[in-house]
Amino acid sequence: MLESFYKDSIVLLEGVIAEIIARLEIIRKYKIVHNDRDPIEYITSRVKSEESMKEKLKRKNLQVNLETALTKIYDAAGIRIICEYIDDVYSVVKMLKKFKDLKILQEKDYIKNPKENGYRSYHIVFEVPLDIAGEIHPVNIEVQIRTIAMDFWASLEHEMKYKKNIKNQEMIVEELKRCADEIATTDINMQTIRNMINGK
Ligand code: GTP
Ligand code: MG
Repeated sequence: MLESFYKDSIVLLEGVIAEIIARLEIIRKYKIVHNDRDPIEYITSRVKSEESMKEKLKRKNLQVNLETALTKIYDAAGIRIICEYIDDVYSVVKMLKKFKDLKILQEKDYIKNPKENGYRSYHIVFEVPLDIAGEIHPVNIEVQIRTIAMDFWASLEHEMKYKKNIKNQEMIVEELKRCADEIATTDINMQTIRNMINGK
């Protein structure tokens, strides 16, 4: 039963990612043509691997089946939107909220309320009505929006989480927290300088 319980849903997960990216790319191109600022630097995406989904379901004491994987876990499909500036992050949030057919299932502003370890990012989970040949399939997607600097930090912190038996872990956690706070200050300063350059 556990063998490849996830496989049949890959088309939905890849579909929802393609749909959201396509919608965003149209807006980006439209903005560029109209000399508006494109707030997006780049977009990455992934479908959560079956192995990692199983691990997460077990960790959260949930049943390992397709229904639970697609409804109780929100990040089977995930996209990450990377921006230059903090204001861009909030512009992207606004842009996403204009898609009236998307239902917001969860929203977390870890920029205004950073995690204890220093993690900063804006997370929104949407339920997307994916139209497949006239049949509507509701599929969840987790969208993470953050600055280049926050993303740089998160990838290093993520690396640490998945390594076992790290020496000086306590010191590393402390140093990472210090870097996160410095990065946050730099992000704010960069935004302020940019606003000054543009006479805002
Ligand atoms: P999980 O953390 O995935 O179990 O789900 P959750 O319900 O706690 O949601 P949350 O919004 O906190 O996190 C969702 C995703 O954000 C994670 O799967 C990671 O990709 C990312 N994330 C959250 N917290 C951290 C963190 O402290 N460090 C890093 N590097 N990424 C994080
Ligand atoms: Mg978490």
